[in-house]
Amino acid sequence: MSEMDIHLTVNGNPHKVQAEPAKTLLCVLREDVGLTGTKDGCSSGDCGACVVLLDGRVVNSCMVLAPQADGARITTVEGLAVNGQLHPLQRAFAETWAFQCGFCTQGMLISCYALLLSNENPSREEILIAIAGNFCRCTAYQNVVKAVQQAAAEIRERGNREGIPHA
Ligand code: FES
Ligand code: FES
Repeated sequence: MSEMDIHLTVNGNPHKVQAEPAKTLLCVLREDVGLTGTKDGCSSGDCGACVVLLDGRVVNSCMVLAPQADGARITTVEGLAVNGQLHPLQRAFAETWAFQCGFCTQGMLISCYALLLSNENPSREEILIAIAGNFCRCTAYQNVVKAVQQAAAEIRERGNREGIPHA
């Protein structure tokens, strides 16, 4: 199958890659863009380890073909920190031990980040709904809820819900 040009803006940076039309956005990000924070847990849309934002929407990047992402703005976990400063969510995940092995963590972070963009004070139920597509084999869910509420409180206090400019 012949390759085609795919244009992406990833974490604010423009990229042009050549990819076969059947290649997934997940593989493009990891293999062509060189950002391996986005994980491949199942390759079938079931686990959420590959979640990214595509034009501000949460998607499983293993279920998006490269041509479907052509021209899109993508936010990956590498885009959450700004100027070397971790996003409040990342700090809160570390401070509350919201992970064990960490394989699901990038997907959790992106799903929770998307939630905080639209909801500055999410309830426990709203957080659980936001991460319903993110499977954690280590069952760190309770501390994810704590982390999101801690980060939300910090962001509200600072009066800044954006956190990063790429979403
Ligand atoms: S790797 Fe995409 S949902 Fe599991
Ligand atoms: S921390 Fe291990 S899968 Fe979630």
